[in-house]
Amino acid sequence: MQGLILAAGEGSRLRPLTFTVPKPLISVMGKSLVERVVEVLRDCGVSDIALVVGYLGRLFVDVLGDGSRFGVRLSYILQERRLGIAHAIYRGVEEGFLRGPFIVHLGDNYFGEPIQEFVREFAESDYDVFIVLTKARDPRRFGYVVLRDGRVWRLIEKPREPPPGGYTLSGLYMFRDPELVGRAFSDLKPSARGEYEITDLIQWFIDRGYNIGYSMTGSWWKDMGTPEDLLELLNLMLEGAQARVEGEVLGTINGKVIVEKGAIVEGVVHGPAYVGRNAHIAKSSEIEHYVSVEEQAYIEGGSISRSLILEEAKLVLGRARIVDSIIGPRSVVVLRDGKYRLIVGERNQLEGL
Ligand code: G1P
Repeated sequence: MQGLILAAGEGSRLRPLTFTVPKPLISVMGKSLVERVVEVLRDCGVSDIALVVGYLGRLFVDVLGDGSRFGVRLSYILQERRLGIAHAIYRGVEEGFLRGPFIVHLGDNYFGEPIQEFVREFAESDYDVFIVLTKARDPRRFGYVVLRDGRVWRLIEKPREPPPGGYTLSGLYMFRDPELVGRAFSDLKPSARGEYEITDLIQWFIDRGYNIGYSMTGSWWKDMGTPEDLLELLNLMLEGAQARVEGEVLGTINGKVIVEKGAIVEGVVHGPAYVGRNAHIAKSSEIEHYVSVEEQAYIEGGSISRSLILEEAKLVLGRARIVDSIIGPRSVVVLRDGKYRLIVGERNQLEGL
């Protein structure tokens, strides 16, 4: 099977971070989401993968290259205009990349369980389309799937009033025949938000009597749209992680803490927490919990809770406390005291006087 990872979006709800870093390339616990998705597909035996890129597409090539680092062959397909998921999939058909059954994984989606079972179910079936459903909290934010007599019956994109008893459509789809997907796409019309919707593409198959399979996630699933989503993803990942210390702990660590190679902890770290490669938590600092300090970040003084501190950020906090925050790569934050919730982009400078 071939794989298609969709990563062309602008991530507008995650600005200012996404002004310079596309959403799937934001690091969480030492690795970006798109790197994790490549590994997920590889672990399903998918070795021929294309990434559909658009916004800041060049950066994906810089980070992922030809895929050899992951043991896969990675190519890139450009989606110049953001015309939606169905169009991004169609680009894979149009470019001649897709030649047989394929898996589509959104670059900003992550499952708390391996997806092998779903892939096997599709591979061993004669389904034309296979989708994975979840019970997300707010169906109005997602694609919504209504079942009838145990079969997929209707898909509605972001329903204003979701009929009861339906499920959320996750960002994992499988298709048997690229040519049929091309035919379906040519019948679609853009939605009110100007996009060719994945829900309409799948509905095309239903309306013509094709065979649609589905499975439910048994674990958590996260779509990373907003800063809150990103921090929740971090929480879920930390919950599932194993403690591991490869760096130097001169201070104190409590509970489940990961300290990567080259990292130095002189202060206090309460788990669950992650301290990335060559990161430095200086003596006077307290990392409380649900914090990830990415590669080469430096923290001095203060306390931090439920936050993501991105690579090479430098925080000098005095007696200040930071909660529910995301600090962009290479930014400098200097504070004295008080309590803050900050969403800071890349290479910003913030100083409390
Ligand atoms: C997209 C799809 C939606 C799906 C969601 C999963 O939404 O349109 O059907 O439930 O991804 O992440 P969007 O991210 O474009 O709002």
